[in-house]
Amino acid sequence: MEISRRKFFATSAAAAAIAEQDLAGQTTPPPAAAKPGKLPVIICAANGYKYLDRAWAALQGGADTLDAAIEVVTGPEDDPKDDSVGLGGLPNEEGVVELDSCCMHGPTRRAGSVGGVRNIKNVSRVAKAVMEHTGHVMLVGDGAERFAVSMGFPRENLLTEHSRKVWTLWREVHSNQDWWGPQIGAPNWTAPDGGTAGKRMNRLVEMAASLGIPEEERMDAVRKVLHPPTGTIHCSVANAMGEVSGITTTSGLAWKIPGRVGDSPIIGAGCYTDPDVGSAGATGSGEENIKVAGAHTIVEAMRRGLEPREAGMEALKRIVRFHQDDKNQLRFIGMTYYVLRKDGAYAGVALWSGKPGQTPRYVVHDGEKRTETCTYLLEGETRGWPPIPSVPW
Ligand code: GLY
Repeated sequence: MEISRRKFFATSAAAAAIAEQDLAGQTTPPPAAAKPGKLPVIICAANGYKYLDRAWAALQGGADTLDAAIEVVTGPEDDPKDDSVGLGGLPNEEGVVELDSCCMHGPTRRAGSVGGVRNIKNVSRVAKAVMEHTGHVMLVGDGAERFAVSMGFPRENLLTEHSRKVWTLWREVHSNQDWWGPQIGAPNWTAPDGGTAGKRMNRLVEMAASLGIPEEERMDAVRKVLHPPTGTIHCSVANAMGEVSGITTTSGLAWKIPGRVGDSPIIGAGCYTDPDVGSAGATGSGEENIKVAGAHTIVEAMRRGLEPREAGMEALKRIVRFHQDDKNQLRFIGMTYYVLRKDGAYAGVALWSGKPGQTPRYVVHDGEKRTETCTYLLEGETRGWPPIPSVPW
């Protein structure tokens, strides 16, 4: 049988679509006609809202896209009240704040990253310094800290009184098994029993009061003890010429084993930028995002022609596939992706809808600063990861 060249390409495209369906385990919509967005544009996790204006002003003044993104993320890094990033970040299980960050600079196709850094609050700038002043891409731990000091970054105590108290509350109730496995979905994993959560809550609120945690902060502290957050801020920027950069920075998972790094410093997971395509980044369960190389998966999906929203959904579907669609596992996972195509089209997507009216949000500035609601994949709430620690009462 003769097959025309045109028909051959149509058949190949269909085969590729089927392969994609097999890979993700779910139907992936066919590439839609690309609808260009507006340039310049900044897209960011919600905790960057307050800092969008200064980044926008920098961009209008001709700042580089990575420098504009850093204008956003250093806001929460410097803010002792933001306990998910930089100064005041929630510490590891030993009470030490360890920070992670990575960046990609589209115009020069370079990358920088640091992991497990102590005593230096602006790890986003340190990641950029690794990119600019070394022949490496990633530095970790003590070496990264000493590099930062050699570059003029001041050493400072990152543990605020607030974070110390919440850590102390966690320490009072934690078991010695919180971080030592198994991973969600491992053969010996079982969903934790949340049956006595109410009782635990009341007891923890009382303990928080006895530790001197102000009343208005108590419920938040208790939630963070029972469902350790992963914090994080990601920001991607495209300028008027369609140049793109991205950056992600975090104090990582609260109460983690010292030395644990999540997705935020991993190029391709927490952040990925390709000047030919666009940029993407993540906040949420780092371990899950590493396994699907989320940001890279999204950029590659856009390269194949998927719209930003569909590209983000594809990465979320891979997480679902990794857990074989088992909601009993997936409800312990939270994930939000921020997606920017180089022509300014963008999207925010989340794994779970959250409670009615509480769907995860992200922020955008394209001349107008605003908050937008993510498109979500699954209806319902995440209980956060990892499982509730064993509280002995
Ligand atoms: N997404 C941040 C972390 O898991 O460390």
